[in-house]
Amino acid sequence: MSPPLVFTLENGLPLNTPLRQAICADSGVIEYRRFPDGESYLRILTAITGRHCILLANLCRPDDKFLPLLYLAQGLHFQGAASVGLVAPYLSYMRQDKAFLPGEVVTSRIFAETLSASVDWVVTVDPHLHRIHSLDEIYSIPTRALSGTPALKSWLDRQHHPLLLVGPDEESRQWVAALAEATNAPFIIGRKQRRGDREVRVELPKDSRIACNTAVIVDDVISSGHTVLQTLAALKMAGAPRVICASVHGIFAESADQKILRAGAELLVTSNSIPGKHCAIDLAPVIAPAIEELITPPAGTPQSARGQLP
Ligand code: R5P
Repeated sequence: MSPPLVFTLENGLPLNTPLRQAICADSGVIEYRRFPDGESYLRILTAITGRHCILLANLCRPDDKFLPLLYLAQGLHFQGAASVGLVAPYLSYMRQDKAFLPGEVVTSRIFAETLSASVDWVVTVDPHLHRIHSLDEIYSIPTRALSGTPALKSWLDRQHHPLLLVGPDEESRQWVAALAEATNAPFIIGRKQRRGDREVRVELPKDSRIACNTAVIVDDVISSGHTVLQTLAALKMAGAPRVICASVHGIFAESADQKILRAGAELLVTSNSIPGKHCAIDLAPVIAPAIEELITPPAGTPQSARGQLP
């Protein structure tokens, strides 16, 4: 069978080349533009019949991107792709997973149902699973929620200082504890109170290692940056000599990255899930095996059915 094809709607996604190389895929070519009224025009220029097609999408600020993505997925199906899968290293619409106030729309569920109707599988990294414990609760297609920990570990292994990993809140314990175990570094977990999108308080436990180790604030996502800013301030108050921040996903709303650097973080790094100047951690080695598993028919599948999904 021909190699899989990777399609994107956005140029310059930092994961595109390493991912294609890791799974030995070709680049799928499309023409994508907007009509003067803003509607999408899409044309698939690569022959796709019988080939596995992978959509690599940056779903940070997704509303403008989502409809063209659905069109492309459906177009690939209609034009004969063997399968169409989505790699969304950052999976959007994972926060409104419940109606907190009467009348609120549970967008997580609707987003997942819409996507499930258009693609055959979804691969993502560290989605915001909080009240929803597994993507299978809202997606009706095969999903893989991978951990960014191995990629973060490879990066941390190259930092030659005694490190102290710092999780801002209980939610971060899962990532921080896994990373601490993988890197043999000690860790502490703070207590976060969030009173609004931009109103966050973080308290850290007293720990003598804060004053002599390089503190590494670890979180799954930096959005407004307030969680990291408050953690950074608490570390500085406790005498931390050097603070670096490592996050899987860097959204950096309202120039949050600049605020974090101005507040005294010596280094700010993220994975290459969302394009940006702080991408230093490659997720391709984490994502590639999951794609290969999803598009490889189980052993014993007859030759005639090899273009189909397992
Ligand atoms: C919280 O549940 C997450 O793990 C992050 O700590 C949070 O989403 C970061 O948001 P912000 O940068 O807006 O404080």
